[in-house]
Amino acid sequence: MTTKDKILQTLEENKGKSLSGESLAENLGISRAAVWKAINELRKEGYKIEAITNKGYCLSTENDVLSAQGIIPYLNNPENADKIHVYKQLESTNITLKKMAMDGAPSETLVIAEEQTKGRGRMGRSFYSPPKGGIYMSILLKPYLDLSKSVLITTAASVAVCRAIEKVAHITPEIKWVNDVYLNQKKICGILTEAVTDIENGHIQHIILGIGVNFTTAKEEFPSELSHIAGSLNVEGITRNQLAAEIYNQMIKINENLESKEILSDYKAHSMVLGKEIRIYKAGTAPAGLHAEDREESQNYTIATALDIGANGGLIVKYENGEQATLSSAEISIRF
Ligand code: BTN
Repeated sequence: MTTKDKILQTLEENKGKSLSGESLAENLGISRAAVWKAINELRKEGYKIEAITNKGYCLSTENDVLSAQGIIPYLNNPENADKIHVYKQLESTNITLKKMAMDGAPSETLVIAEEQTKGRGRMGRSFYSPPKGGIYMSILLKPYLDLSKSVLITTAASVAVCRAIEKVAHITPEIKWVNDVYLNQKKICGILTEAVTDIENGHIQHIILGIGVNFTTAKEEFPSELSHIAGSLNVEGITRNQLAAEIYNQMIKINENLESKEILSDYKAHSMVLGKEIRIYKAGTAPAGLHAEDREESQNYTIATALDIGANGGLIVKYENGEQATLSSAEISIRF
């Protein structure tokens, strides 16, 4: 670890407290000049570090620069510290993690970026990933699961995101099937699950779970085509490092028992579609958004009522002719 990283780690562990240059130097076995140099470098990178006369350096609790040192203090399992990889800019955290997985990265590796230049969404769409306002993270998981149960990971991921938001921000988001997370009728989080399977036995070799959260992106910042759909979490007093760590914690915990009944019941409790009349579109043909009918002309849908979520995460629906079906993949919009 570089001197700068060591100083950052100590400051993150003591966020909001003042640490004298002398004690920092002594504890890390370096000169006071080296401390001063590292503090200046960190400030240039955007860290809010105050120098308080006779007290020392203090990393502001409002500091929100993404870093491994900022995430690690919030991990449930500190042994995972080496698995956290933070980047300033990536094309896509899913792509980077996929390459790392091919090179043998261990399960529970986390890749997180300040910004994505080619953020990927479901159905070949892109995911708007500007710097500062969002959390773009991918987690590598190696569950022993049959391909037919892979949708469980998707279901579990949205529950993990909801639990993390509830714990850290004390607000309750909702889930739009399959796995979009909404707050105040706006999408604040999208999840893209990519699986690599073993052709021989049909089991999943590994899963790249990509999660994008709009944390503070301002309404006017979203591109016009997203402005009526997307929203942000926007909760004061929490940081991206904190929420990213908690999403990671919750996901690791949930992954230990993916078939637990609690995941499904929590998913249902957060569902914003159950009991509602919906439009079902063939995958990839839906207009974006929650309530589509005021905008689109597409006739490429069927109307049904969303009844329940099946044991494998499928959406159980009843069509207008009274027939029931379980959807494993489709896109839906909620009717007014
Ligand atoms: C969707 O809503 O369509 C899914 C969006 C998933 C976005 C995340 S951001 C981190 C990870 N890397 C990507 O390129 N995409 C996922």
